[in-house]
Amino acid sequence: MTKIIVNGGKRLNGTVKISAAKNSVLPIIAASLLCPEKCVLEEIPLLEDVYCICDVLKSIGASTEISKGRLTINPQNIISAEPPYELVRKMRASFLVMGPLLARMGNIKISLPGGCNIGTRPIDLHLKGLSALGADINVGHGYVEAKASKLVGARIYLDFPSVGATENIMTTAVMAEGETVIENAAEEPEIVDLANFLNSMGADIIGAGTDTIKILGVRDLKGSVHCVIPDRIEAGTYMIAAAITGSDLVIENVIAEHVKSVVAKLTEAGVTIYEKGNKLRVKSEGVIRPVDIKTLPYPGFPTDLQAPMMALMSISNGTSMITETVFENRFMHVCELKRMGVNIKIDGRSAVIEGVTKLSGAKVKATDLRAGAALILAGLAAEGTTEISDIHHIDRGYVNIEKKLKKVGADIERIEE
Ligand code: UD1
Repeated sequence: MTKIIVNGGKRLNGTVKISAAKNSVLPIIAASLLCPEKCVLEEIPLLEDVYCICDVLKSIGASTEISKGRLTINPQNIISAEPPYELVRKMRASFLVMGPLLARMGNIKISLPGGCNIGTRPIDLHLKGLSALGADINVGHGYVEAKASKLVGARIYLDFPSVGATENIMTTAVMAEGETVIENAAEEPEIVDLANFLNSMGADIIGAGTDTIKILGVRDLKGSVHCVIPDRIEAGTYMIAAAITGSDLVIENVIAEHVKSVVAKLTEAGVTIYEKGNKLRVKSEGVIRPVDIKTLPYPGFPTDLQAPMMALMSISNGTSMITETVFENRFMHVCELKRMGVNIKIDGRSAVIEGVTKLSGAKVKATDLRAGAALILAGLAAEGTTEISDIHHIDRGYVNIEKKLKKVGADIERIEE
């Protein structure tokens, strides 16, 4: 079993370079299936989730090649619109191939993504959107089957600004006849990145990044070369690492606009942040003030940084409240943080955290990707040794996390047992 071992209490100093965004690269890789020409993605993050979606593409006949951080996708010879269950169930984001395959092949059969550790995660909004565009959808025996002899643009209102549903609808609509309007669309930077990629392929999309996206269907798309945006969640995690260890870190390759809510909350907590170009310097004296946080769709505070922020609040000098509004069950990390001396009470969708003066290292387990990051952060601040198991969750979304932290002075190691 592979574990991450952290000996806490070290101050960090230096520069951490942020990789390309996992949540951008996955829908973009899926979208490259839309046309038979090659697409190239520069400086992709070498993550388990990226390898996983490449396997999904290969399983249906596309070729993918990673060389020097550049991913070349050739979807010319797609032989099937039925990615195998064993691959799709490994990663929820595999479901993002549904829109592109339906648009290109006129049909798709894909297993239901199911729930996961953070909630039931339904797909009703994806299906509502595709059905409005003219797809005939059947759900049964654990699969979704969608067929469409012709896709026609439509006006689609999302009851919740779902990131994945917005992405699947966009990719289905790019070659539909006429105009599609997505109302109450997700506004995340990853949606804008996907729209930019699709436009570079010849699509006609305006309004991405606002709550109304308009897509005018085009006849053909062509191959493209694209550079994915930096990972705002990875950036936020290292910003919190500086705060929790009372350190001075420079975070490089970050779009400050994308982490505005994190900057606001860390500033409220007493952390000083300077912005210069694509860098943020994050400086903390080690005294953390309690702040209340409510997770919301972008531009609100990201749910993906809720667990890391909870680790930070656990050492604040007061009481803070964190409310999770995006996912129904995203407090799995609480039990593990408690092993390290964190004082938390859960009441429905809110967690009340009484700051403690010190955390203590313990044996803990990553229950999901961001929960794992929170445990590493707590370990950096804790007295003694923290041993984190089930780190495959962490490898899904953080490139070389222990190497990046070690480079700036953390005492952290990956071990094989
Ligand atoms: C994406 C991100 C994930 C992030 C999340 C919210 C990727 C690969 N993953 O996930 O890291 O935490 O956005 O920012 O980009 N919902 C429905 N019906 C649907 C779809 C969603 O009710 O058809 C609900 C979900 O259960 C959840 C909420 O909407 O409560 C948000 O989900 P969504 O925005 O779709 O998240 P994902 O795209 O799955």
